[in-house]
Amino acid sequence: MRPAPAIPTTGPTASRGGRSSRRVRNDPRQYDDLAAEWWRPRGAFRTLHWIPTATPTAVRPGALLVDVACGGGLLAPHIARSGYRHLGIDLSAPSLRLAAAHGVLPVRADARRLPLPDEVADVVVAGEMLEHVPDLSAVLSELARILRPGGILVLDTLADTALARFITITVGERIRGVPAGLHDGALYVDRARLVREAAGHHIALRLTGLRPAVLDVAAWLLRRRPDVRMVPTRLTSVLFQAVGRKEVP
Ligand SMILES: C[S@@+](CC[C@H](N)C(=O)[O-])C[C@H]1O[C@@H](n2cnc3c(N)ncnc32)[C@H](O)[C@@H]1O
Repeated sequence: MRPAPAIPTTGPTASRGGRSSRRVRNDPRQYDDLAAEWWRPRGAFRTLHWIPTATPTAVRPGALLVDVACGGGLLAPHIARSGYRHLGIDLSAPSLRLAAAHGVLPVRADARRLPLPDEVADVVVAGEMLEHVPDLSAVLSELARILRPGGILVLDTLADTALARFITITVGERIRGVPAGLHDGALYVDRARLVREAAGHHIALRLTGLRPAVLDVAAWLLRRRPDVRMVPTRLTSVLFQAVGRKEVP
């Protein structure tokens, strides 16, 4: 791990300290509180270690991948050999320090106002973040703005369904080691709206459901596997990935 560099700060300051349970549901400062959990394979963010992101191989040396709401930088090892410059944006300074220590160029900012020029990114990734933002349209518009024509947008998030809320909140928050209050089910993402709004930004999204491989879960519980593979499924009503290329005019 490299030493963490100083983090350029833009956007609002989040306070530190306090336990997750003292925060209101979906308060982003919970990620400050839980920063020590990011890289623990069996810690609070263990499922985030399992979610693959279909990031394409870099199209040219030094291509820029912007990882919006990068958290502790868990995507870094998955793209380490692809040749991208990996720029990570997040509100949480403690999380960004960890991301930086894993090779991510950290920028502290709000996804609703990205401090980047138009059409600068070859790939924009937003993993497990759209379900946390009250203003989906503003964030999507920013993701599309910074993506160059021909560039790829890769999202994964939770669907606005009763099933997703049941699995991730009703059941999920009862599982030992899973912090309560990280999600607000009211913010889960309407898939039709997401596709429609992305099309308005000239990005045709293709949705694929993701689920954990059942045998892997069993092996993981028995400590015979360090992680769980996520496999594609036609069911997009819980966790899904959306990938699309921005049209070239
Ligand atoms: C569930 S984590 C996902 C982290 C990472 N993308 C991953 O998959 O491992 C959600 C992240 O979104 C960040 N976040 C929430 N709202 C944000 C906003 N408006 N702007 C930037 N980051 C935000 C949080 O700080 C947290 O790191």
